[in-house]
Amino acid sequence: MSLLRWKDEYLTGVEEIDEQHRRLFDLVNGIYDMMRHGRGQEAITEALSELFEYTRFHFSVEEKFMADTKYAGVSGHSEEHERLLNQIRDLRCEARDGRIVMSMNEMYFLKDWLLTHFQGPDKGLAVHLLNRAIPVIESVGL
Ligand SMILES: [Fe+2]
Ligand SMILES: [Fe+2]
Repeated sequence: MSLLRWKDEYLTGVEEIDEQHRRLFDLVNGIYDMMRHGRGQEAITEALSELFEYTRFHFSVEEKFMADTKYAGVSGHSEEHERLLNQIRDLRCEARDGRIVMSMNEMYFLKDWLLTHFQGPDKGLAVHLLNRAIPVIESVGL
């Protein structure tokens, strides 16, 4: 069974963010399956590097949205991103050093963190972006 199961209640309504969240689900599930099936630490470390890079990319997209729209909650939201990136980096180090059991436990923590973040700060950001969409479109004369 997958670690994370996608539900429509996780949707924020901003297509780009939702597509990236689904991809993050897939990456986390893939890593969890690799751990469960006893894949080698090299493969797991590589998959965690991919997760780290993709997460960093996703956060940079959200942070650009926040900067472009002068979002008031930018600092708290970005700090959460930084904390998660550090956590994935630690996880990768543990996998690289062969501490896979510890990594497995941290995957549950990562899962909870992602779900809480998607449904809290990311939904808050999405509401802000969607509310801004009309004035932005009007201002360019569409
Ligand atoms: Fe976020
Ligand atoms: Fe996000």
